[in-house]
Amino acid sequence: MATPSPFAFDGDLIAALRRARFIAALTGAGISAESGLATFRDAQTGLWARFDPRELATPSAFARNPKLVWDWYAWRREHVAAAHPNAGHLALAELEQRGVPEFALITQNVDGLHQRAGSRSPIELHGNITRVKCSREGTVVERWNAPPDAVPRCANCGALLRPDVVWFEEMLPEPALAAADAAARRCNVLLVVGTSAEVYPAAALPALARRSGAIIVEINPNATPLSAAADYVLRGAAGVVLPALVAALD
Ligand code: OAD
Repeated sequence: MATPSPFAFDGDLIAALRRARFIAALTGAGISAESGLATFRDAQTGLWARFDPRELATPSAFARNPKLVWDWYAWRREHVAAAHPNAGHLALAELEQRGVPEFALITQNVDGLHQRAGSRSPIELHGNITRVKCSREGTVVERWNAPPDAVPRCANCGALLRPDVVWFEEMLPEPALAAADAAARRCNVLLVVGTSAEVYPAAALPALARRSGAIIVEINPNATPLSAAADYVLRGAAGVVLPALVAALD
């Protein structure tokens, strides 16, 4: 016998999801919280509560102290490698695989957990921490020698290597931004999951989708600046709400 869902989802929401020709999802750090990865803005455990982004996540920080920045990302890379996708990541992969005519997963996360859960080609707005690139040429580097006391260098041009993530003061990758923009304009439903909706340009996508006629569904245990403008607000953890929502479509 199927386990009854702890959620009584609004019938209109379920109907909208069932008839949608294009479902998009925008995810943030909150979807990986249940995988044990810290979010950014949580007042106690958030990375930006414990570390200063100006010292770790800007081009000028890297110019000033590349070793500090390299080591901090190496530490985060180890956490990501040890983490596993959770029920929220898996539910989004399942939703895509159900055969919605069009599906787009837009993520601000750099942890690669959506891919590991089976999502086909998430649009990564902020890069991916598991990749390393040349700080001059931008070429992604598969292997590097990491001397214990220095930042590794590009074998081709000798410039320092850096994580392939977007830092504050940097532009987002144009193809990813264009793909996210197009999905927001064309989707019928946008699920906004685990993001504080404070960091632009990602935070502008829900409003763009809404202006273009999409239904906005926020999934987050806490209120955000988006909550008042969302059509549906599902208060709860992504790893609980998303599997129940996908199951409710059967
Ligand atoms: P934030 O840390 O700003 O927000 C995380 C959100 O997840 C909050 O709204 C929480 O309430 C929510 N949350 C926490 N646990 C959750 C759970 N189990 N299920 C669902 N939601 C949960 O993270 P982002 O919005 O992703 O950028 O931050 C956006 C960007 O700011 C990041 O990509 C990063 C950061 O600076 C860069 O590093 C470029």
